[in-house]
Amino acid sequence: MRNPDLDGAICATSPIGVFDSGVGGLSVLRAIRAALPFENLIYVADSGHAPYGDQTEAYITQRTLRVGQWLVESGVKAITIACNTATVVAARSLREHTALPVVAIEPAIKPAVVQTRTGVVGVLATRQTVQSESVARLCALHGAEVRIVLQACPGWVALVEQADLHSAQTEALVRQYVQPLIDQGADTLVLGCTHYPFLRDTIQRVAGEGVTLIDPAEAVARELVRRLDVHTLASGPKPGQTLVFTTGNVAQVQSTIAQLWGEGVTVEALNAV
Ligand code: DGL
Repeated sequence: MRNPDLDGAICATSPIGVFDSGVGGLSVLRAIRAALPFENLIYVADSGHAPYGDQTEAYITQRTLRVGQWLVESGVKAITIACNTATVVAARSLREHTALPVVAIEPAIKPAVVQTRTGVVGVLATRQTVQSESVARLCALHGAEVRIVLQACPGWVALVEQADLHSAQTEALVRQYVQPLIDQGADTLVLGCTHYPFLRDTIQRVAGEGVTLIDPAEAVARELVRRLDVHTLASGPKPGQTLVFTTGNVAQVQSTIAQLWGEGVTVEALNAV
C-alpha cells in the first residue's frame, strides 16, 4: 500500500474515507457528516463481501487492506473504519500499511460499564467481534466489577442490508438475541456492530424503555475531528460532498441507502477491489 507523505500528496481539502462491510457504516457516516459539514466524504459499502462477521479473520483482513488501499489511492487524508468487525480483526494491519490517520470504531464497553445500574451489560455484535481478542481485552480491562454478556446476532446485518427494519420477522430475530440478555438482568446494551443502530427502534421495543442502548458513532466522529486537528487537515468553508461506492449490487444498495440515509445518494459501482 502506498504511504503518502502527509505534507505532500494529500491536503486539507482531500476527502475522508469511511468504509464498512455494507450500509451499516452509514450510522457512523451520519455522525461524521454532522460533526464535519464541510468535509468531502468517500464511503465504501463492501456489500459484495458482506457480512464480514461470518467470514474468517484472513478474509476480513484482506478486504480491509484492499478497501483501505483503494481509499489511499483515491487520495483520502484519513480513514475511518466504520465497522467493529474490521476494527477488531484488522485495524492493526491497516495502520501498519498506511501513514494516514486511521480512526476505528469498537464496541463501547467502557461507557456501558460506567452506566449500568444492575451490573449486567449486554454486547450485541457479530460472531467475529464477540470471539475477538480485542473484545476479550476490553472485557478484562473494564469488566472487573460487572458482568458482561457477549451475544452474537447472526442475521441482523442481512436485515439492515435489505432495509427490513420493522417487520414481524425482524422483531422475532431481534427478540431471539435481546430477550436472553434482558432475562439475565442487562439494563445496558452495547450496539457493537454499525448496522445495529438502524434496528434501534425494534431493539428498544423488545428490550423495554428502561434499557439504555449505547452507540459510539458520535465518539468516533469526535475522535476523527481531533485527529484532523492534530494533523491540521480540517477542511472548509464550502459544504462537503458525499460520494458512495459499493462492491455489491448498486441498485439494491442505492435503494437501501435512500431508506436509511433519508435522502437520495448516488451510488457508484466499485469493481476494482
Ligand atoms: N457493520 C459491521 C460491524 O460493525 C459488520 C457487519 C458484518 O458485515 O458482519 O461489525
